[in-house]
Amino acid sequence: MEYKILGSTKEKLSSIGIGTWQLSSNTEENEKAINLAIEKGVNLIDTAEIYGTEKLVGKIIKEKRNLFIATKVWATHFRYDAVIKACEKSLENLGIKQIDLYQLHWPNRGINIKETMKAMEKLVYDGKIRYIGVSNFNEKELKNAQRAMSKYEIVSNQVEYNLIERMPEMNLIDYMKKEKITLLAYSPFAHGAIFKKRYERIIKSIEELGKKYDKTAGQMLLRWLIQKDIVIPLTKASSPKHMLENIAAADFNINQKDMKIMDNLTPKDSNAGLSRFKNLIGYYLLLRASLRL
Ligand SMILES: NC(=O)c1ccc[n+]([C@@H]2O[C@H](COP(=O)([O-])OP(=O)(O)OC[C@H]3O[C@@H](n4cnc5c(N)ncnc54)[C@H](OP(=O)(O)O)[C@@H]3O)[C@@H](O)[C@H]2O)c1
Repeated sequence: MEYKILGSTKEKLSSIGIGTWQLSSNTEENEKAINLAIEKGVNLIDTAEIYGTEKLVGKIIKEKRNLFIATKVWATHFRYDAVIKACEKSLENLGIKQIDLYQLHWPNRGINIKETMKAMEKLVYDGKIRYIGVSNFNEKELKNAQRAMSKYEIVSNQVEYNLIERMPEMNLIDYMKKEKITLLAYSPFAHGAIFKKRYERIIKSIEELGKKYDKTAGQMLLRWLIQKDIVIPLTKASSPKHMLENIAAADFNINQKDMKIMDNLTPKDSNAGLSRFKNLIGYYLLLRASLRL
């Protein structure tokens, strides 16, 4: 397993992490898949209060050591007291005393980020969390969040990034590289959409390229992300078969020429992922906050 350093810390994270959104209803299969990944050296597991999978993660990680547990506080809990309360609940769900990475799940323009970050910094100070991250923040939102902090740093930003959702390449990645902030890439398969008929031409080209490495299209797509320096993809796979296939992406190299070929399969500003609904969710959160719901 290849490891990467988290932001400007000394933490070593596996170059592929496990995502736990919308796991299948077959919890036994999910557990088996995640346990297999851990056995193979994956140490990063990502969940969120809103996913409803914190308790399952808690069950899996019980009595296991050296794992790095990331979870998120949902945007309607960004007032000071609500952040503290949400963190306590996540600690209880996970059955742990300290969360390794606590992330703001989605920017909420309706609540002053200074108030939210004050609570996040208090959580670090009190030892309830170790590091602060954000998720779905664009460059401007990330800069605002950084400015709102007084003691600690933002170590990661979790955004959608895959071959058909390449908006992070516009400005965000360069800024994050400069600031030494890790990019946790969610939905590396565009939530599975990349394997649909619509993208058949792209997948065929990648399969062809993968033959040289004896790798599947999925492995090539994950590896393409891993080789983007500060990027760690989060893979969600409910079955042990998919999980093993995916984490094997951490153990091979695509040469520069083939990386360029993959780069050229879609335009750099390709925006076909779930993130294109970001504004809608943003307006909803703003409305909720202004009505103080
Ligand atoms: N921060 C955020 O706002 C946010 C938003 C979305 C996601 N995330 C995080 O990112 C994680 C991953 O994203 P995601 O769940 O959207 O989707 P994804 O990883 O892009 O795609 C998951 C889909 O691909 C399938 N799949 C997995 N491995 C495969 C393979 N080797 N070949 C073919 N199909 C395969 C899965 O099926 P099976 O399950 O049947 O294996 C599932 O249907 C989430 O679990 C979550 O932790 C974060």
